Amino acid sequence: MRIGPHALPNALAVAPMAGVTDRPFRQLCKRLGAGYAVSEMVASNPALRGTAKSLRRIEHAGEIAPVAVQIAGADPASMADAARYNVERGAQIIDINMGCPAKKVCNVAAGSALLSDEPRVASILAAVVAAVDVPVTLKIRTGPSPAGRNAVRIARIAEEAGIAALAIHGRTRACAFTGAVEYATIAEVKRSVGIPVIANGDIDSPERAKAVLDATGADGIMIGRAAQGRPWIFREIAHYLATGRRLLPPPVEEIRALVVLHLHDHYSFHGAEAGVRTARKHLGWYAAGLDGGAAFRRAMNACETPATQLCVVNDFFDRLAGQGDRLIEASTPVEGGADAGAQVPRAHARQRVGEALAA
Ligand SMILES: Cc1cc2nc3c(=O)[nH]c(=O)nc-3n(C[C@H](O)[C@H](O)[C@H](O)COP(=O)(O)O)c2cc1C
Repeated sequence: MRIGPHALPNALAVAPMAGVTDRPFRQLCKRLGAGYAVSEMVASNPALRGTAKSLRRIEHAGEIAPVAVQIAGADPASMADAARYNVERGAQIIDINMGCPAKKVCNVAAGSALLSDEPRVASILAAVVAAVDVPVTLKIRTGPSPAGRNAVRIARIAEEAGIAALAIHGRTRACAFTGAVEYATIAEVKRSVGIPVIANGDIDSPERAKAVLDATGADGIMIGRAAQGRPWIFREIAHYLATGRRLLPPPVEEIRALVVLHLHDHYSFHGAEAGVRTARKHLGWYAAGLDGGAAFRRAMNACETPATQLCVVNDFFDRLAGQGDRLIEASTPVEGGADAGAQVPRAHARQRVGEALAA
């Protein structure tokens, strides 16, 4: 798949996720087989640019190219300015967020709230495309609500405006994260435009990835929640798409090494004190579905320093290594079981994709 002049190594993208896809996580996903990653969104409001959070989000040193930065906002001139600001700081692709239903974004009528105002969508896209000489991409949902699905019209507006690729989460804004993903709408969008279309929503296994590519005809797929704690899902999908066979589960020692590497990168990016706190969610996801995960999360949440957190992580992996060479996930999560909280979202996502593809 190409985005403007950038030929991507494959058609597998990491979805932008605020608070998750920081530079260390994006880098890890790219090393483990993702061909493309989009940064967490950066607000277009210049007043927010000096905050520590915003400054971290525009820090791309050492990132594997192409560096794609997502911007969010509702005013065409400010969005154009935000695009220029980010290109000056290393962005090689600008992605516009019209897919996020989060209140913080939608209260100012940005993110997916914009989908109900097609003339404004057109003005924002035209202003941003004219402002920078790098490719501009767009991320949308299928519409503001089930009664107002306008993804095909938005896609045509995007193509007309010079957008280089379109990612589409197959749910409306009103549906948030519930209900089956509308792969049929994504297929319709793909048939309606000539620009690359990337399908997104509930893809959580190599088989699902292939089924979604087949069902939608999309040029690529984008994976969000299933990559949390499983960044190696990209190489598993790439292998399956190339050979029709699943890779064996990864070696425990390889995953120990990459979790430790992720933690060191995370601490140096966020600072030791904040890093220990913000690493907890990643560690919780790594442990989800693994034997002893609940006890590990309790121990790890009590850690206040990188050294103690690393020590608890190593103890956890020592225990897993004692059980076998390969990482074995519990195949059937038990509702109400000790690890149920962490496991259930994965199981539900799988179920929803199955329903949608069967429909
Ligand atoms: C924690 C979290 C944060 C997200 N932040 C963003 C964001 O900043 N920008 C955006 O366009 N979408 C955001 N999304 C939506 C994802 O990019 C993606 O469209 C959605 O999770 C569906 O894909 P999935 O089923 O593979 O997770 C976020 C999703 C999650 C779970």
